[in-house]
Amino acid sequence: MAGIVLLGAQWGDEGKGKITDLIADDFDYVVRFQGGNNAGHTVIHGGRTLKLHLIPSGIMYPHITPVIGNGCVVDPKVLLEEIDRLEEDGLSTHRLLISTNAHLIMPYHKDLDGASERRLGNQEIGTTRRGIGPAYMDKASRMGLRIQDLTDEHIFRKKVEAALDEKNAILERVYEMRTYTVDEICDEYLRYAERIKPHIADTSQVINTALQADQWILFEGAQGTLLDLDHGTYPFVTSSSPTAGGACTGTGVGPKRIDRVLGIAKAYITRVGSGPFPTELDSCPGGIGEHLTTKGGEFGTTTGRQRRCGWYDAVIVKYAVDVNGLTDLVITKLDVLSELDTIKVCVAYEYEGRRYNKLPSHQTAFHHAKPIYEELPGWKTDITDARTFEDLPKEARDYIAFIEDLAEVPVAMIAVGPSREQTIMRRWESRP
Ligand code: GDP
Ligand code: IMO
Ligand code: MG
Repeated sequence: MAGIVLLGAQWGDEGKGKITDLIADDFDYVVRFQGGNNAGHTVIHGGRTLKLHLIPSGIMYPHITPVIGNGCVVDPKVLLEEIDRLEEDGLSTHRLLISTNAHLIMPYHKDLDGASERRLGNQEIGTTRRGIGPAYMDKASRMGLRIQDLTDEHIFRKKVEAALDEKNAILERVYEMRTYTVDEICDEYLRYAERIKPHIADTSQVINTALQADQWILFEGAQGTLLDLDHGTYPFVTSSSPTAGGACTGTGVGPKRIDRVLGIAKAYITRVGSGPFPTELDSCPGGIGEHLTTKGGEFGTTTGRQRRCGWYDAVIVKYAVDVNGLTDLVITKLDVLSELDTIKVCVAYEYEGRRYNKLPSHQTAFHHAKPIYEELPGWKTDITDARTFEDLPKEARDYIAFIEDLAEVPVAMIAVGPSREQTIMRRWESRP
């Protein structure tokens, strides 16, 4: 039995797509357990670059069954567009399974996401405006429509009627926006239903049966630990559970099925959207922040927004180790630091004269936390051709050792470039 969770240890965009693609060959299933098309995972496979939003990053391997679990929210229009794009690229998507219990993103969810951000003004969360928050709100308030509703026109219509009773009133009276008719939504969504139906499955049963048969399942996280609804920097978070527990609730698999939890972290850190960010660097021209943005290509895969960049924050990663029970750390984008003379690592915070070695539990302390840095020498050498740990210059090895000591878990892999082969495997034995 091998159930392995791979998730983001920071604020997302850690390179989860690359690492999933790298190890996916060993697996029978790759399962998304939360989020929706707010995610943007870049995979460079067989010489082509794919941007995946909703479909699991294992899609490139014909022997893998990609699964969208019950914890995800699905925009059927976006899903079908993504399927079409992959098929045009010569990748077969017929194996894709979608949980019957996954929730649907409806047109009004997207409107309400944008409207609520506009209402917040300079307090906005900076969401991807894909309707994620409003779709999870409806799930929690038991007003949501699920994938299985697409299979019964009568039920679908009744649920749309009930939802529009409330949504139209909000759209019209609170936001002065356009309203929807039951017919227009039913016409659109029931058209999508025809193409989606062959993919619908009881995915919890499928995965549990596979685990009992000793097949390997990779649970692919989206977003990151600090964007978790419960454990992240609330309210500047997403509306799902990107932490390890989400892999269980978002797929219907028990915690004892999980053998290993890999946390992916960049050798520095980025964040898209609003919210506190203690180690954030100024993005002024010629500064280190701008250097990381340019060298790291730090522009959002989903929205194209520039990502905010900062020094590696070991307090955050240690927090991710704790709340996820990480067994291993994977460090990506080490190559992006290669030109720097010295590199800072945040080892603790200071707030109101007190030192915090752990993430402060109160938002005010975290919002005003001043990073306490240790400065390490840079290596000033191109490392993109390194394939073993020993190939790295001493300063780069020391940097990884420093991170490893602070995280108190081993660094299993180190990525030194965007392509598959630009990776150092330290603690990964392929499946026998
Ligand atoms: P995800 O959302 O966690 O899958 O990450 P994204 O795909 O949104 O962003 C990570 C970006 O970094 C992508 O453009 C990757 O191709 C790229 N990337 C991943 N690992 C490395 C690495 O080690 N070095 C460099 N230079 N780029 C990397
Ligand atoms: P991947 O999977 C980085 C951020 C948004 C915003 C907050 C809430 O590529 O790592 P939402 O639309 O989810 O309600 O937005 O979360 N966010 C991400 N940031 N990577 C992501 O996904 C993200 N998905 C959402 O920018 O701050
Ligand atoms: Mg991303």
